[in-house]
Amino acid sequence: MKKIMLTGDRPTGKLHVGHYVGSLRRRVELQNTGDFDDIFIMIADAQALTDNADNPEKVRQNIIEVALDYLACGLDPEKSTLFIQSQVPELCELSFYYMNLVTVSRLQRNPTVKAEIQMRNFEASIPVGFFTYPISQAADITAFKATTVPVGEDQMPMLEQTREIVHKFNSVYGETLVDPKILLPENEACLRLPGIDGKAKMSKSLNNCIYLSEEPEEIQKKVFSMFTDPNHIRIEDPGSLEGNTVFTYLDAFCRPEYFPEFLPEYKNLDELKEHYQRGGLGDMKVKRFLNNVLQAELEPIRNRRKEFQKDIPAVYEILRKGSIKAEAVAAQTLKEVKAAMKINYFDDAELIQEQAERFGE
Ligand code: TRP
Repeated sequence: MKKIMLTGDRPTGKLHVGHYVGSLRRRVELQNTGDFDDIFIMIADAQALTDNADNPEKVRQNIIEVALDYLACGLDPEKSTLFIQSQVPELCELSFYYMNLVTVSRLQRNPTVKAEIQMRNFEASIPVGFFTYPISQAADITAFKATTVPVGEDQMPMLEQTREIVHKFNSVYGETLVDPKILLPENEACLRLPGIDGKAKMSKSLNNCIYLSEEPEEIQKKVFSMFTDPNHIRIEDPGSLEGNTVFTYLDAFCRPEYFPEFLPEYKNLDELKEHYQRGGLGDMKVKRFLNNVLQAELEPIRNRRKEFQKDIPAVYEILRKGSIKAEAVAAQTLKEVKAAMKINYFDDAELIQEQAERFGE
């Protein structure tokens, strides 16, 4: 069976380091292994509109931001198809048929949708499109026959829902759709990177993000203001790693080679952690180290972004070409889906013959 990767992001803002360690970094690594027959990276504008219906301009403006972040991180249009969801209308058609295979109560139980409804204060005014976006996400994934979907932990319920739809479809209409596998980050810190304030999740509205395109001074300011252990007051005090954002970020970003480069007194992260817990290591020293690490990680990304920014029409052209390719693939799947459902009347010579005989006597 072919190995196909598909994933994507809603264009509601610039991408941040949470996106990076949660999925983006992995996508680029996987892309560069050459192990995949096809890779599709989708800018999910239609999904973004499900809770931004009255703010389409936000979505429109952020498509290019996300595309630039993708290219900056090393997604390569020669190896990965970058495309815009709304430009592949077959996805809507697939969603429409999948809707018959999902119950309202099943959607109501989706934990991510539940949490999002609460966060947005939708309660009694949930847009139908928003409520059903897990179904449209199943269309995104199955349209490309994706076998591998690298995403963050919050997307787990979407993948479960997708697999249920796949199983249901295949059992009702015959083996047609491919069962996808979720690919989560192996590292606990990458699974749910907190905001710089230590709050559960990085989010634009909480103003606790470090963006991939952030300038060096901004990065430093944010790192220096990071939440640590509130009980670690004097340097001699023993410090705790639990919920200590600076150490969580080091878990997510630190590579062994950064120690000889930036902090040669320590052999590795374990040694640094041990000293912190024992007492005698100040927050500022750890923050300075983290700042060096993040600067080293983000500088090449920021520089590459600036290169791509010089030719914005070329970036739109990459998306246009990618969308054309994506549509061709989705159209083929839709054809197979309609054939399995036997709603391909005009290709169905047997049906026409059968009906002719029925009325023929
Ligand atoms: N829901 C994803 C997010 O919030 C975006 C997305 C839409 C997606 N369709 C997808 C991710 C299909 C993976 C596969 O960012």
